[in-house]
Amino acid sequence: MQQEKEKLWAGEVFAEFEKKMEKVAEKSKDKIPALAIDGVHDDRGDGTKEWRADDGLNWWTNGFWGGMLWMLYAETGKERYGEIARISERKLDACFESFLGLHHDVGFMWMPTAVADYRLTGNREARKRGLHAADLLAGRFNPAGGFIRAWNDIPGSGDDTRGWAIIDCMFNITLLYWASEETKDPRFRQIAMLHADTVRENFIRPDGSVKHIVEFDPETGAVRRDYGGQGYGEGSSWTRGQGWGLYGFALSFLHTGKAEYLETAEKIGDYFAANIPEDGLIPVDFCQPAEPLWYDDTAAAVAACGFLELSGMEAVPEDKRIFYREAALKLLKALDEKHCDWTEKSDCFLTHCSGSYHGEQHNHTLVYADSFFLEAILKLKGAPFLLW
Ligand code: GLY
Repeated sequence: MQQEKEKLWAGEVFAEFEKKMEKVAEKSKDKIPALAIDGVHDDRGDGTKEWRADDGLNWWTNGFWGGMLWMLYAETGKERYGEIARISERKLDACFESFLGLHHDVGFMWMPTAVADYRLTGNREARKRGLHAADLLAGRFNPAGGFIRAWNDIPGSGDDTRGWAIIDCMFNITLLYWASEETKDPRFRQIAMLHADTVRENFIRPDGSVKHIVEFDPETGAVRRDYGGQGYGEGSSWTRGQGWGLYGFALSFLHTGKAEYLETAEKIGDYFAANIPEDGLIPVDFCQPAEPLWYDDTAAAVAACGFLELSGMEAVPEDKRIFYREAALKLLKALDEKHCDWTEKSDCFLTHCSGSYHGEQHNHTLVYADSFFLEAILKLKGAPFLLW
């Protein structure tokens, strides 16, 4: 009975989301939206917010626009969403051409675009793009440390990130699970699992919180140190990273059935749930000072997806399933009631996101926040299509 009420609520939220997106999709069809920061990139003085692209075609979030459209296509059956999604999918082909700007985030770029297209329509060109991206990701595996290398060094910068691995990559490895499922060649899945095992051993603290960046010696694989990364500082708990870990390990369990991944997802989930503030709104870092109050709605939306995924798993005990569903609902209701712009003055939905704690901008819009919010609402509604 309670679940039926929640499904009905999710259906209403979805209908409102789709009503706005139908117009926004048409208006933004030739862009790959990333963000619309009021007052900085987008100060037109009238309070309106319009989607715009970010840092070039290789930007890691460039798959989410397509992903939102494919989720809408899957749920409504409207062909137009697929047509618009394919505009950005084709644009991303230029990234394969230039190659050098690409790094571990190829999963974030091609899972929600090409792989979603292939899964939903059987498009063979899209399949090829997905497999191409999976080969690039597999090529970043360092057997010494058993991790997928994050990012690239900027030539001449003096940086050395050859030994860096990051929690975010738990999402990129879903591309490898898909590639093995698709080709029946286990090597992709094996790389993904070796990476997930390394993350399990080295990123998760005893209290269930998660580090953002761990540096390994790229020759020997020995752990060197960790970094606060996009969070408040060393030893802190960047909330989006907690979300990547929670949902990422749940997905690894879903693709492999390995019980340790589920245990890890639950451990991170329990930590996250224990730290949800009274008002249900998630800060950029669970360890940040009380002021300034910077939020990350993206973290809330990603975590809500992870909680809902766990709440649907038979391997999770009944009481924990209810607990995780309640945690997701608390997050989603807070986003809907307090941080969602449902007006048509804005192309975007969630209003209080932050790329990182020490970044220049806070409490603004981000395309992946909207995408994970939509994904969570669809999960609650009971929609079957999974992007990852
Ligand atoms: N994957 C990068 C981020 O979460 O900002």
